Amino acid sequence: MSVLVTGSAGRVGSRVVRRLLDAGRAVTGFDLRSAGIAHPAFREVVGGFDDRAKAAEAVPGADVILHLGAFMSWLPAARDKLFSANVEGTRVLLEEAAGLKLSRFVFASSGEVYPENVPDYLPVDEAHPRKPRSSYGLTKLLGEELVRFFERTSGTPATILRFSHTQDANELLDPTSFFSGPRFFLQPKIRQQESFGNAAAVALLKQADDGPEALVLSRNEAGRPFRMHITDTRDMVEGILLALDHQGAAGQTYNLGATAPVDFAEALPRMAQLTGLSLKTIDLPGAGVFYETSNAKIRAELGYEPRWTFDRMMDEAAQARATRVS
Ligand SMILES: NC(=O)c1ccc[n+]([C@@H]2O[C@H](COP(=O)([O-])OP(=O)(O)OC[C@H]3O[C@@H](n4cnc5c(N)ncnc54)[C@H](O)[C@@H]3O)[C@@H](O)[C@H]2O)c1
Repeated sequence: MSVLVTGSAGRVGSRVVRRLLDAGRAVTGFDLRSAGIAHPAFREVVGGFDDRAKAAEAVPGADVILHLGAFMSWLPAARDKLFSANVEGTRVLLEEAAGLKLSRFVFASSGEVYPENVPDYLPVDEAHPRKPRSSYGLTKLLGEELVRFFERTSGTPATILRFSHTQDANELLDPTSFFSGPRFFLQPKIRQQESFGNAAAVALLKQADDGPEALVLSRNEAGRPFRMHITDTRDMVEGILLALDHQGAAGQTYNLGATAPVDFAEALPRMAQLTGLSLKTIDLPGAGVFYETSNAKIRAELGYEPRWTFDRMMDEAAQARATRVS
C-alpha cells in the first residue's frame, strides 16, 4: 500500500511518515519543506499542495492519502496564504485524487471548527454545531466540506479527525516554541499580543514584566484560569493510524486528542517548580480560553487510548529544557 502524507515535514506528519516506513509501507511525502528522511521506500515532492503541477506530481500511485499538512496562523496579514493553503490546496489535492481508487482519505481538521471558547455545551462532542470563530477554524470547516463532497462524488471513504491542540513534549518549556512560547512565557506572550494588536492585553502583560524570563498563568477577565486540551504528538499519531486502518472509521468524524483538559491553575505552578522561573498571574481581557472536548467516540469505536498525560509530557519537557540550558 502506498500512502501519500501531506505535511510530511511537520510535527505530526513527519512522525506519521516514520511510523509508516517502519511498518513496511511505501510513503510519498508532500510538503513545502523536505522532511529530511532518507529511506528506500520514501519518495518526496517538495512544493505547495495549492500548486496543481506539484499536486499532480505527488498524488499518482497513492492508495491512501493522509492530508495532514496545513498553514497555521491567526494573523490577519496571513489570511490570503491561509485560505490558499488550507482551502484551495485541499480542493486541488482532492481534484487530483479524484481519478484514483483510494481506499481511504484522512483529513486533519481542528477543534477550531467549534466555537471552543463560547460553546453551546461542554464537553464538546462531534454533534456540537460547527461555528468557527477564527479564520483558521473556518478554513478547516471548508476543508471538511470539500472532503465530504469528494467522498460523495468519488466514492472514496473519508475520515475527518478534529485535532486537539498538539505539541511535542519537548516544546512545552521552550520559550521559542511557536505555540508554547506565547502560551506559557511572558515575553513571547507580549510579542504575540502585540502582533495581534491587543493593546489592553499588552499593557497588562508589560506591567508584569520585570526583566528576567518568567512564566504566565493566564486567566480571563473574571479570574477564571485558562483550560484547554494539549495532546502529545505521539498520541495523535496513534489516532491517525487507527483512522487509516480501522474499517469502522470510514465515513466518520472524530475528535482526536487527550482525554483530560489541562487546567492552567495546576499546570503553571508545576512548570514554575520544574524550571525555577517566577510565575505571573494575569487576568486578560475577554472570555479567555476555557473548553473541554470529548474523545469518547474515537475511544469507543476505534479503541483509541492516549498514553501521554500532561504530567508525563511535562517531565519530558523539563528534561529537554535542562539539556538546552546546560
Ligand atoms: N498542532 C496543533 O496544535 C494542531 C491543532 C489542530 C489541528 N492541527 C492540524 O494538524 C495538522 C498537522 O499539524 P502540525 O502541528 O504537524 O503542524 P506543522 O506546522 O508542524 O506541520 C504542517 C506542515 O504543513 C506544511 N505546509 C503548510 N502549508 C503548505 C502548503 N501550502 N503546501 C504544502 N505543505 C504545506 C508545512 O510546511 C508544515 O511542514 C495540520 O493540518 C494542522 O492544521 C494542528
